Amino acid sequence: MSALQATDLIGVIGAGAMGSGIVQVALNAGHHVVLHDAAPAALDRGIASVADAYQRLQARGKIDEATRLDRLGRLQRGAHLADLSKAALVIEAIVENIDIKARVLAEVEALLAPNAIIASNTSSLSVTAIAARLQRPQQVAGLHFFNPAPVLPLVEIVSGKVTAQAVADTLFATALAWNKVPVRCASTPGFIVNRVARPFYGEALRLLTERAAGVASIDAILRGSGGFRMGAFELMDLIGHDVNYAVTRSVYDALYGDARYTPSLQQKDLVDAGWLGKKTGSGFYQYGADAANPVAPFAALEAAPAAIVVEGDLGVAAPLAALAQAAGIDVSYAAGKGVLRIAGVGVALSDGRSATARHAANAEVSVLFDLALDYAKATAIALACADQAPAGALATVTGFFQALGKQVIVIDDAPGMVVMRTVAMLANEAAEVVQQGIASVQDTDLAMVNGVNYPRGPLAWADSIGTPLVQRVLANLAATYGEERYRSSPLLARRALTGQPFYREQAQ
Ligand code: NAI
Repeated sequence: MSALQATDLIGVIGAGAMGSGIVQVALNAGHHVVLHDAAPAALDRGIASVADAYQRLQARGKIDEATRLDRLGRLQRGAHLADLSKAALVIEAIVENIDIKARVLAEVEALLAPNAIIASNTSSLSVTAIAARLQRPQQVAGLHFFNPAPVLPLVEIVSGKVTAQAVADTLFATALAWNKVPVRCASTPGFIVNRVARPFYGEALRLLTERAAGVASIDAILRGSGGFRMGAFELMDLIGHDVNYAVTRSVYDALYGDARYTPSLQQKDLVDAGWLGKKTGSGFYQYGADAANPVAPFAALEAAPAAIVVEGDLGVAAPLAALAQAAGIDVSYAAGKGVLRIAGVGVALSDGRSATARHAANAEVSVLFDLALDYAKATAIALACADQAPAGALATVTGFFQALGKQVIVIDDAPGMVVMRTVAMLANEAAEVVQQGIASVQDTDLAMVNGVNYPRGPLAWADSIGTPLVQRVLANLAATYGEERYRSSPLLARRALTGQPFYREQAQ
């Protein structure tokens, strides 16, 4: 499997945000690049933006003058498509319209050598369908960069139905040589990232719709407990609701209205209002100098308990015992079902049931806490209290987590809470991608870590929680809501039956 040579000419069509970013990636790797755009003004803007980007890098001391001039010297203005005729690889980043893409690519295909590779940067169109409109569909693949292309490492190498293995291999090796993190996937709606990421937004929107908590609380929990760089609402505001809602709609429609991807009316309402997020000054949050925004309501300080009892195995939450000890709390152990006993109050990790349902099944548990990426490093934790809980139960548990140095955010008694249901749904979606042969376990996780900055790949995360618990969370959500949305991936259900992780090779 060999990469293109630095001496190979790269052609880029479309000088917008993505095209001009991709140009820089290829120039940085030593290629000569020809950039073409149908609109001469857009072409000039694209070339100017590449020059500006290098100027900024030089000003920040990242590259020297000679490097800047060398890179710019290898960029050629392609006034006509024919200027791309000697390219070994043409990457198309024009308007997201299959008819226009197919027409432009057919035109350039007729000019190229037979072994040249034609790649599309499409985010949502079928690579199979684009390729089918060309003479040499086996030479066509998706090469999906993320915005900004010079910064974000992930590149999805998308194979259409008849893409030659050698073509996908060459693109993979080339992306590696370009210092990117390539992953392979099949041409299916949303590829890996735009499909697996849907529940990150979807569950937050669902919790908001059910008024489990406000946007600032949900974001604070996803960041402080889940370890996500950004909360779902601030991220949607940044992406823009027009774009984020359109991606959800396109995945939902392309998967024939599968309930798992149902778009949110809350988000549609923002789009209808023209509240597209940061770029319009209003979204879930307000932007601008004097914008007044909601802040997460952290619980008031409560007394720390002197002692706790760990009853049975706390599983993924086991580090809480050591943290309690380190905080000067006396910890003793007893047999049981994974419950923390604090001044008589039973506390447990969410398993996808509400605290109220849990209490109804076993009156020993009154308060639930949410999943944390790392209980030692978490700065916040969400709690939910059963309707039947004894008076003072919530204050007692709040005092315990505060003694460990966590900000406590009390949410309404929503099944699966915030991080647990989000991670379970992300892992479920990732399992579907693996089960359907769209991508491997490793590539699916790599894509989510490098494409959207998740703190851990969803499948590795499921392994660390234990596949049986992830499966139980989904089954409980499905039972509570009675909706298709929460049905388990058959692969996850199978792994859970025997307690096997997704990374089986490494576990053995
Ligand atoms: P853009 O609107 O910034 O740039 C598109 C450029 O293509 C414009 O300069 C336009 O003049 C040019 N163009 C349009 N029709 C053309 C034609 N027939 N021949 C030659 N040039 C033509 O769009 P952007 O954001 O750069 O997106 C380009 C592609 O990349 C789309 O397929 C999009 O789905 C995909 N993409 C976009 C991402 C993003 O975050 N913006 C991320 C990953 C992929």
